[in-house]
Order: sequence, then structure tokens, then C-alpha cells
Amino acid sequence: MLRTNTCGELTIKDVGQTVTLCGWLARSRDLGGMTFIDLRDRYGITQLVFNMDTNKELCEQARKLGREFVLKATGKIAERSNKNLKMPTGEIEIMVDKLEILNESKTPPFTIEDESDGGDELRMKYRYLDLRRSPVKNNLLQRHKVGQAVRQYFDSNGFADIETPCLIKSTPEGARDFVVPSRLNPGEFYALPQSPQTFKQLLMVSGFDKYYQIVRCFRDEDLRADRQPEFTQIDCEMSFVEQEDVMNMFEGMVKHVFKKVRNLDLPKFPRMTYADAMKQYGVDKPDTRFAMQIVELRNVSPSQRGLGEDVVSGKDFKVYDDAELVGGICASGCANYTRKQLDELTEWVKRPQIGAGGLGYIKYNADGTLKSSFDKFFDEVSLKKITEKFSAKAGDLILILAGAESKTRKALGELRLEMGNKLGLRDKNKFECLWVVDFPLLEWNEEEQRWFAMHHPFTSPKKEDMDWMYNGYTEKNSPHSPKANAYDLVVNGVELGGGSIRIHDRKLQEQMFKVLGLTKEETERKFGFILNAFEYGAPPHGGIAFGFDRLCSMVIANEDYIRDYIAFPKNNSGRDVMLDSPSDIDARLKKELGLK
Ligand code: AMO
Repeated sequence: MLRTNTCGELTIKDVGQTVTLCGWLARSRDLGGMTFIDLRDRYGITQLVFNMDTNKELCEQARKLGREFVLKATGKIAERSNKNLKMPTGEIEIMVDKLEILNESKTPPFTIEDESDGGDELRMKYRYLDLRRSPVKNNLLQRHKVGQAVRQYFDSNGFADIETPCLIKSTPEGARDFVVPSRLNPGEFYALPQSPQTFKQLLMVSGFDKYYQIVRCFRDEDLRADRQPEFTQIDCEMSFVEQEDVMNMFEGMVKHVFKKVRNLDLPKFPRMTYADAMKQYGVDKPDTRFAMQIVELRNVSPSQRGLGEDVVSGKDFKVYDDAELVGGICASGCANYTRKQLDELTEWVKRPQIGAGGLGYIKYNADGTLKSSFDKFFDEVSLKKITEKFSAKAGDLILILAGAESKTRKALGELRLEMGNKLGLRDKNKFECLWVVDFPLLEWNEEEQRWFAMHHPFTSPKKEDMDWMYNGYTEKNSPHSPKANAYDLVVNGVELGGGSIRIHDRKLQEQMFKVLGLTKEETERKFGFILNAFEYGAPPHGGIAFGFDRLCSMVIANEDYIRDYIAFPKNNSGRDVMLDSPSDIDARLKKELGLK
């Protein structure tokens, strides 16, 4: 070893020892008679001291060193007169008497400090330098800890870690595939797995009964804060289980990780149906750290017509009379919002991402009076009735959106989150875990005039929808929505994982493909392998996959921005700016692959 110790471990107890440290020059200060250097490694920072009086030559050498030089320094540990109690090593310093430059460094393009002066693009280009910064470095070390906790849990519960291939055939998870041309099979392509879904099911047919894998997945889809084109899943599957068994086992995994990494004991995760989530929160992954639930004031959508009271129509206010859904939220204590604040909020809901036509409001003033944006159409009594629907109190502000059902629900869900942010209700120290259950099995796609699997086509329908699967599905956009044995795990509004109990019967699986509009020939060509496997004793099975990157960002920092938890992520356009990839390839290689 070139060093006796690391830069993060020496304390006052070690004073008097002679040690050798290696690391990078983080900062140097020249105070005339003395030169101080902060030496940094993965473990921390230790102060080196060079004294003009005792070793002039060495001190002069130290003065010339640049930032990020790699150094090896030997010296005696001394107690500092000017202590820094914020650092574990802040009470000591090394009186250096031997110094070796292990490597020089160009001046880095940005400061390697917790708060860097480098922009995102620059830091990504020099990601290996960005990773020297404590916040990013610590994230990766914590990620390692999360991974260890996950493996520990699975190991102690009898799960086998089995690898599955990366060069495969398309797996239908709903995104576009990344493909790899085959040289040996000109004109043909492998697909990179969007998930190991079919493989883990085949492993159940093989009899492995408890499988997991921390595995890289690839999806060519639009990127967001919580999405990368290549990301990592904790992929799991079990045989001879029902939905409850799967949920309990993996709830246990999440609790184990929170305990190991944050020393937090999470209570039992509550459950919510998909229908309730959509109605009350406008989204299938509600942030339940705060209430502010959506209240429907009118809903004449086909599925809801006649249910619930309509308290807004018939007032000659066309916007509400014509809307399929009129709904709102009640922001506690916001009745004093100014004209400007309301205008800003109106602009916010009108942005294309939210897409609302406008924003209605009722101020329930502190003196008990009501003031609304639609006073022209609503008298005091009618306004009062609306406030009662929200159980609003004096001082509250009711915000109302109207329009087509699904769009309005979604917009209300977004507005709720925005108000949650504004009011500081999305507490960084709080973790609210939630199972969302009873997802619809299928979604009707107007454009393509066909059903799509909401989770994936291997998900089993609920028993009571079996008849629909064989007889009801032919009715286009059928008002009956069959439900799936599918579940998502949501934490603070982030979808951490999703899974289902699978179909394990060839006949039902074939029927599912038929419902999805695949011909017999297409089904055989794309999924013959798994249908065949189902004929050789497929056990009942089910599982789940968690986004490992999302789990890390959530457990470590309670945020949904995953890039800071990935060593070498892609940017928003799917580029690796450090490698400058994707890029053109060699003409010869292209030719060999039969590409132009
Ligand atoms: P699903 O498609 O829901 O299910 O994915 C499981 C989890 O993976 C994470 N995830 C992502 N994370 C980062 N970037 C992405 N682009 C991305 N896409 C998904 C999410 C998500 O909850 N085979 C099924 C699982 C199963 O049925 O067992 C599947 O992949 O956290």
C-alpha cells in the first residue's frame, strides 16, 4: 500500500503518530511562513501543513502544487490550534516532512467542491471529476449500501440471483426497443430487454420458485427526471403465490432497505384502489404526504353519470354546464392570495404540460364572506354549497378546473402537487408508502382502435372478468373495464415498483393476445416460446420489479431526480456527453452489419 491511512479517519486520538496519506489536492492556502493543503480522497479531507522555518525546500515545493495534483505525504499528526469541528478530521493536521507527486493535474474545468461552479453539461462531460465531489460520491456509496441491503434481504429469504441475457427479442413493456444489428444474421436484430419479464417467468417454469436480479433494462422513451434510457431494476418473481404473498414479501424488502440505510421503521403500507387514486388524487401514484383531495362538483362522464351530486350546473355558466368533469381542491389558509398570485396560478394551469382552459376560484375570506371568479353566475347560497363540499373553513381558497374527465383529473392532480409544493406540504423527512391495487387490465386506444395492456400482456385478469376476456372484449371501448391482479408500490408520489400475478395457462395467454389484436400467426411468431413453455407445467406465479435508481434516490434523499444516483447517466436527449455517444460508427463495421 502506498498509504498507511485514509484522509477521513485520523482524529485527535492519533496525535503523535507518523502516517502516509495519498489523495488529491483540494485546496491550498499560502500564509507566508506556512502552507496548508487540503488533501482529499474518497473518505474525507485531511489538512497537510508545510512550515517555511523547519523545511523551506519542501514548503516551496508545496506552494507550486496545483489543484487536483495526486500527492503522497508523510508526516507526524499534530493537534490543530485552529480547529474545524465540522469535519471529522478537523482537530488534527499532518506536519509533512516528505512529499511525493504521484501525478500532476490540469486545472479542472470546474471547482470540485460541494457547491460547484460547473454547469450541468460541463459536469457531465467531465463526470469522472464530478464524481470526486462529495454529494455525488456519497450518493453512489449510499447506492452501494442500498444494493447490499436488497441482496441481503433476498438471500435471507431464499431467493436465487439468476442472470438473464441482454441480446434478446422484443419484450412488450410499452416503450420502444433499443435494437442491435446481428452481423451473423444479416438484416436481423436483437432487442435489448425493456425488462427480463419473459425470462423470469420461464425461470418459474424451470422450478426456481424465488428469483431476483439487479438488472439493467433499456427503454427508448422520452426522458424525465425519474427516467433514463438505461436504468436498473430489482426484478423479482415467485411461484405458488397469490397477490397478498407477493405484496407482503416485497413490502418487507422495502422496509428492510429503509431500516438498513436510514434506520427508519416504516409502518405497514396502506392500500388504495386505482379508481380511488384517480378520483381523489388525479393520478395513479398519489403523494399521500398531504391530503388536499380532489372534490368532484360535477361528473357526467360515462362511468360516473348519475353518481354524486352536481352543484355547479344550471347557473348559466357555460364552462361548467358543458364540462364532463368539474372538480377542485381546497388550499388551506390561501384565501389571502393576491390577484397576482391567482393570475400566476392561472397561467401555470394553462401551460401546455397541464393544459387547463382556465382556473376558477372561491375565496373563503377570514370574515366569512365568499368571493369567486364566477360571482356573476353564482349567488352566495350556491357558493356556500360548493365550499361545504370541500369542508372549507374561513381562510381557505378553493381552486376549480373543468373540462374533459381524464384531462381535468390529471390537471387537478398536477395542481394539487403544485399547491403542495407552495405550501411546503411535501415534507422531505416524511415517507408515505402506498400500494395501489385493482388496476384496469386494459386501456382502449382511440387512435389505434384497440386494447392495450395497462401493465403488460402477461398480467392475469381478475377471476370475475374471465367471462369478459372470452366474450365481452369484442365490444369496442366497452364501458366495462376489466381489472387486473396488478399492483404498484408508490412512495411520496413516485412509482417505485410495479408487478402482477401472471397468466400461466396457455389458453388464457393466447386469448389475451387475441384481445390485444394480435393474429394467431403474430402471437406464435412473437410469443411462441413462452406459450410453449406454458404447456410443460407452468406453476402459478407472480412478481414485481422496482426501479433501483428510483429506490436509491428516494431512500437516500427523498427525491425523484435519479441522475445524481447513477455513475454515468445520459442527459435529457439520451446522450452520454462524456463519451459523445450515440455517434457514427466505422464504415467497415456498418458494412459488415449490412447498414447504410
Ligand atoms: P414496469 O414497467 O412498471 O414493470 O417497471 C418497473 C419499475 O421500473 C422503474 N422504471 C424506470 N426507472 C428509471 N427509468 C426508466 N425509464 C424506467 N422505467 C421503469 C419504475 C417501475 O416501477 N416487468 C415489469 C415488472 C413485473 O411485472 O414484474 C416491469 O418492468 O420504478
